Amino acid sequence: MNSGIEILAVVATLVGMSGASVQPHAAPVQAPQIRPQTVVKYWLEPPPAPQSGVVERGKWLFRQQGCFLCHGPEGRGGVPNRNYIKDAIPRSALAQWMKLEPEDVNPLLELLTRGVRLETLAGSPPVPQFNLVLAQYRSVQELIRRGNVAGKKDPKGPNPPLNMPRWGRSLTDADLDALIAYMLSLPPAEQK
Ligand code: HEC
Repeated sequence: MNSGIEILAVVATLVGMSGASVQPHAAPVQAPQIRPQTVVKYWLEPPPAPQSGVVERGKWLFRQQGCFLCHGPEGRGGVPNRNYIKDAIPRSALAQWMKLEPEDVNPLLELLTRGVRLETLAGSPPVPQFNLVLAQYRSVQELIRRGNVAGKKDPKGPNPPLNMPRWGRSLTDADLDALIAYMLSLPPAEQK
């Protein structure tokens, strides 16, 4: 695991941002309180037993890799990002991002939970429009592998300090499936 330094950098950024740099005109957001004790607790958490399933592994990776530092605990979002187009990193809504029909989420989750590789199902699509689903699934994998620069709200303003990091090959395909399954299992935006 090579993300320790990056995680420290994120923590430093978040701590720095909680002070004087708060924007007076930013939309009110409920910034999550991420305490150093929580970071360390997540870090020291042992991996779940294999029989506890893919979603549990994804949850562990989400904490272990520091995804929660930007996406909030359980992907609830609310982490302020100066001059980011959305002001704060929003609640994760991966099903929406992947343009999934609500009724397709559970069948896909079930396949991922059973360790089925979605790519192998092109010949026997488990849900309608499976080609589109597969394309979206590949773009999430790509996004996590390659990272993404957070868009600026004011083009002349500073670069937002928090960008989606580039995970490259430090996460395996199975890790990505676990993270995607976990993020798909999170409640949609309306529920708290
Ligand atoms: C340093 C902050 C940071 C960390 C750590 C981080 N992300 Fe992100 N992530 C972002 C930002 C910012 C975006 C939005 C980028 C954009 O606007 O296109 C994003 C976008 C995403 C998206 C696209 C869907 C969405 O909600 O916008 C996914 C999926 C995602 N991240 C997954 C992860 C996973 C999985 C991890 C941990 C392995 C992780 N992120 C860690 C900052 C972070």
